[in-house]
Amino acid sequence: MTIYNIFFSPTGGTKKVADILVKEFGQNIEEIDLSNINLSQRTLQEDDSLAIISMPSFAGRPPQIAIERLKQIKGNGIKTIIVTVYGNRDYEDSLIEMYDEAINNGFNVIGAISAIAEHSIIRKYAKNRPDSNDEIQLKSFANEINKKLNTPEATKLNIPGNHPYKEIKGIGLIPKTTSKCNKCGVCAKNCPVGAISFDDESNIDAEKCISCMRCVSICPKSAKKISKLITFIAGLMIRKQCKLRKENELFL
Ligand SMILES: Cc1cc2nc3c(=O)[nH]c(=O)nc-3n(C[C@H](O)[C@H](O)[C@H](O)COP(=O)(O)O)c2cc1C
Repeated sequence: MTIYNIFFSPTGGTKKVADILVKEFGQNIEEIDLSNINLSQRTLQEDDSLAIISMPSFAGRPPQIAIERLKQIKGNGIKTIIVTVYGNRDYEDSLIEMYDEAINNGFNVIGAISAIAEHSIIRKYAKNRPDSNDEIQLKSFANEINKKLNTPEATKLNIPGNHPYKEIKGIGLIPKTTSKCNKCGVCAKNCPVGAISFDDESNIDAEKCISCMRCVSICPKSAKKISKLITFIAGLMIRKQCKLRKENELFL
């Protein structure tokens, strides 16, 4: 049995959640990274395989580039779990949109999870999550899913979210490059939307940038920064919503 770990995870929080889950289903894991700009088209093998599709929630929607890249992968009826990962504010229509897209691409979605990971912009929210409690909870979800995998009857999933989806709001937080930059090119190579020039890493295409924070988190010299003031204000704006610890949820 192959477990397809299909993920989009600019700063690694989504991948942490995905990794906790996939290991509970088997050892034969194949990773498909949706941040890969050169992702080629493919059709998955059905057999008794399982796909786990994980994406972060950006302003209550999945990143549209991840949704576009998912269209390259044909599900071919494979049993699938969809996972939205968010920074303890809310995930609004992320899961329902992932569900719709997965179904459109031939994935047989049998379960859904919302999970929490450290907020990739305002890092004080959901700090160090997923933590050990999350891990226990996510493993118990995998256990529940395993039981469902072994029962033949299909149940109707109740995925939270609305149609039409909430409007897409760009964050517009374009990282700045400081003098610490030694032009190693790691940021340009790893930008999931190809927004950073290979010739001049300080040149970021604001039209392409999705403010995913990968360059900020990946730079070995910590040379990419976002405005402290804007981050502080954004933190204040969502403070109320982020105040209480949210728990992971399972929809079966
Ligand atoms: C552009 C952007 C928008 C975000 N919007 C939300 C949001 O609406 N709600 C929330 O709880 N977290 C939000 N977050 C936090 C991420 O969903 C969360 O940190 C997630 O774990 C990031 O995934 P990654 O670590 O795989 O990149 C946002 C992060 C970014 C970069």
